[in-house]
Amino acid sequence: MTTDEDLRRRAVQLVSLLRRANYAYYILDKPEMSDAEWDRLFRELQQLERAHPELRAADSPTLRIGAEPASALTKHRHRVPMLSLSNAFDDDELAAWELRITKLVPEVAEAGYQLELKIDGAAVNLTYEDGIFTVGATRGNGVVGENITANLRTIPDIPLRLEGTGSPAVMEIRGEIYFPLSNFARLNERRVARGEERFANPRNAAAGSLRQLDPKITRERGLRFFAFHIESDDLPATTTQHEALDQLESWGFRVAPHRRHVASLEEAQKAAAEFEALIPTIDFEADGVVVKVDRLALHEALGAIGGREPRWAIARKFAPEVAVTKLLDIRINVGRTGALNPWAVLEPVEIGGVTVSRATLHNMDLIAAKDIRIGDFVEVTRAGEVIPQVLGPLHERRPADAEPYLPPTTCPACDFPVERPEGEVAHYCPNASCPGRLLEAITHFASRGALDIRGLGNQRVMQLHEAGLIADVGDLYALTPDRLQALEGFGEKAASQLVDAIAASKTQPLSRLLFAIGIRHVGAEGAKSLARSFRTIDALMAASEDDTAAVDGIGPTIAQAVASFFAEPKNRGLIERFRACGVTLEETETGTATGSTLIGQTFVLTGTLPNFSRAEAKALIEQAGGRVSPSLSKNTTALVVGESPGSKAEKARSLGVAQLDEAGLLRRIADDT
Ligand code: IVH
Repeated sequence: MTTDEDLRRRAVQLVSLLRRANYAYYILDKPEMSDAEWDRLFRELQQLERAHPELRAADSPTLRIGAEPASALTKHRHRVPMLSLSNAFDDDELAAWELRITKLVPEVAEAGYQLELKIDGAAVNLTYEDGIFTVGATRGNGVVGENITANLRTIPDIPLRLEGTGSPAVMEIRGEIYFPLSNFARLNERRVARGEERFANPRNAAAGSLRQLDPKITRERGLRFFAFHIESDDLPATTTQHEALDQLESWGFRVAPHRRHVASLEEAQKAAAEFEALIPTIDFEADGVVVKVDRLALHEALGAIGGREPRWAIARKFAPEVAVTKLLDIRINVGRTGALNPWAVLEPVEIGGVTVSRATLHNMDLIAAKDIRIGDFVEVTRAGEVIPQVLGPLHERRPADAEPYLPPTTCPACDFPVERPEGEVAHYCPNASCPGRLLEAITHFASRGALDIRGLGNQRVMQLHEAGLIADVGDLYALTPDRLQALEGFGEKAASQLVDAIAASKTQPLSRLLFAIGIRHVGAEGAKSLARSFRTIDALMAASEDDTAAVDGIGPTIAQAVASFFAEPKNRGLIERFRACGVTLEETETGTATGSTLIGQTFVLTGTLPNFSRAEAKALIEQAGGRVSPSLSKNTTALVVGESPGSKAEKARSLGVAQLDEAGLLRRIADDT
């Protein structure tokens, strides 16, 4: 007969067996159990824990499967702020760093320097209490990050319980989550196959994967972790950074390969070049080598610049990687504002472990200035940036028949004659209903900073457009799961998910909608100012150009663009379609407004007020939710009159607009009139 005690023992035994197997597989890279055996033990433990939840240990490997999706990420305050690093771009800058710090603390160089690869991923902070992983967080702003514990538990080389002994009661382990390049390439292949957009680079993909609400998504992505720092008041007998790294390894963490200790800065400089040569051999992105004063006791003495960058470490950055490949074609993408953006089709080439087959050419002027021709061998760089760029051609390898590139005179998407505004480098397609612009406009509408419709990226937009389901953003709200399911790559689940995501976008605040509809010159910030000031789309549409231009953060250029956008009947029609299907057309967020007594009221100021300048009075009114307009109309709520008013008082009388003095205005703000 099995007793409770037998079950408890078996649970402990299974946790220990699985933990050892995991460690052997992921940390030591020496598997000691077959996959089938592992699965069998894992399932046994799962069943046992399901029947007896009280037996689930705080470090049970079943925790790695991932908890249920969360509805939002919560904030986490780091016990000690997470620092970033200052950079050195060449040997001289590295030497200057040593000079600076030896002036502060002369014994710096005595214990030499520890060199580590600078991993280009996402920094995280892991709290261990009595050897158990309890909280994991993103870096955030260095002081407060986001709690992503459930996601981090799914990463196999983060120990849930530390190996060995000697860990302080509470400590934070800092390190980098990264995307192995092999996993990254596989992920992108899968995404393309599913009609989703590729991730541009491993760093962003790692950061994005970490901030998922559903830990299962994080787990599937295949992220890994390297540890590089122990933050604790009572470190065990480590006196140097290189011992700290050994300590991390003995606790069961992985430390990035190729670390080394050098005695002098000259050696460090030489070693940096050797590190750089390793780049093609490693399965992760590294953009430099971190040079650290090895003796930990000196770290405190050296401190940090502005509390952000430690003086005891510096990142010696590698030169961005450049590859040479053939320029097969120059294509043109029509942006949502009509700008024609040239891009390069390249013979696929590996740059730092990522295959690049397209790159930006920026604008037509650049192509002409560098005389870039189709058929040329060109230098291409990724430079840690998201979009690879063409640097220029290798003239000596130019094929004899390569012709100079001529920019198109008509739009490649709609054949409209191309325009080139005076003083601008960009060429434009002036046709407002150009299909090229349309696709970009729809993609923008759905993008993260706009209405944030998940699953509606560039590829999907193209697919829906080609299938005749959408001609503009208004059509999105008429999509049904049935129609989507008729398309390739849409299962029942994907179809209803997309329809749900589109429906959810209806409740986004007005500021996002104003940004999303793509009014020229209206960025995310401008849209916020407009929404905060006008509160409803109807008020904005009714406003005069002067009124709009008077809003904080909005000038005549934006005001004019807003006016001409809403003057266009097609755009007004779009707003009516939004209204008909229940899209939010009022601002629901109060923003920075502290009061609401003046919401919907418009004031005009004239003369000198006794206690406030014009700007102060305007700020007071806006903080209470009101607006200030430069010119009177019958829609003006009141004219605020100070010392020596101009002709406005007379005009107010003739329009029947009320007049207030400063005290009257203040009473209204306080809402006791
Ligand atoms: S030390 C705790 N070592 O680079 C002191 N940072 O640009 C500061 N990074 O935020 C970090 N590899 O996320 C250190 N071997 C390494 C690193 C490393 C990558 C990251 C780290 C930091 C960023 C600064």
